[in-house]
Amino acid sequence: DLLSTLWLACQAKKAVAPAMNQAMWADAATLANMDVLRQRGVTVLGPAAGEQACGDVGLGRMLEPTELADLAEAQFQGRALDGKRVLITAGPTREAIDPVRYISNHSSGKMGYALARAACDAGASVVLVSGPVALPCPEGVERVDVSSAQEMYDAVMQRVARTDLFIGCAAVADYRPAQAVEQKIKKNAETMQIELVRNPDIISAVAGAEKRPFTVGFAAETQDVISYARGKLERKNLDAIIANDVSDAGIGFNSDQNEVVLLAAGLEQALPRMGKQQLATTLIDRLAHCMAS
Ligand code: C5P
Repeated sequence: DLLSTLWLACQAKKAVAPAMNQAMWADAATLANMDVLRQRGVTVLGPAAGEQACGDVGLGRMLEPTELADLAEAQFQGRALDGKRVLITAGPTREAIDPVRYISNHSSGKMGYALARAACDAGASVVLVSGPVALPCPEGVERVDVSSAQEMYDAVMQRVARTDLFIGCAAVADYRPAQAVEQKIKKNAETMQIELVRNPDIISAVAGAEKRPFTVGFAAETQDVISYARGKLERKNLDAIIANDVSDAGIGFNSDQNEVVLLAAGLEQALPRMGKQQLATTLIDRLAHCMAS
């Protein structure tokens, strides 16, 4: 028919706006076909969820025409990170004590995952080096799973020369047990000591690499947030740092909201409390500007 022949002959960027019954949309055949379209570079707009013409409720409604018009318009505007390669670390690391125990922290990975999604939406190709978290990988992002700080370091350093923007969002354990014992440790003594040794500082290694990306760190502080973060920016030789006050339980570790200050040479920009995804979008936009200037 006219539409499919036009589609095949047309060399322009293409987008589809699917609209169908919720069971049709959920069917394996439809999902596989949508994957084929995405792999071929077609942008998929929607569908939305809600009441359907047949009376069913669910995913499959066409987006509203005005929404489609806005999204179609956006296809013609360059995005902030078009063509850029972004590498992000997220989540905690686990440092083995023996085969069943480890040292870790409460990082949920939410901020790093939100940044990965925002960078992808801004046109970048994104690799997310992730410690163990309970989050799905954002669509279009390549995830590399790691466990220890050393594994995270190796995964990052392998890719750093092919990176334009590095964001160190992971809560990397500063120390690891000097020896990971091969057999489970038995509780014989009343006390026990574990000797710890320093882990490599991943972000400092990235900032010191010969072919260095624009390097952005996080500084989670409980007091004198700005001055500690500025100190870290200089000491680790970063291009920018995102400071947050983790003494406030409503933001930071594990929460869905965050409130930060973006610091760079000659820049101190406070971003008010908002959802982590919205904050990630704002941060990616600001960082793209910092990179370009
Ligand atoms: O020194 P501190 O841990 O407070 O610095 C936080 C920043 O450094 C974060 O961006 C974190 O991802 C990064 N970091 C790192 N490797 C470490 C420790 C921290 O990349 N071993």
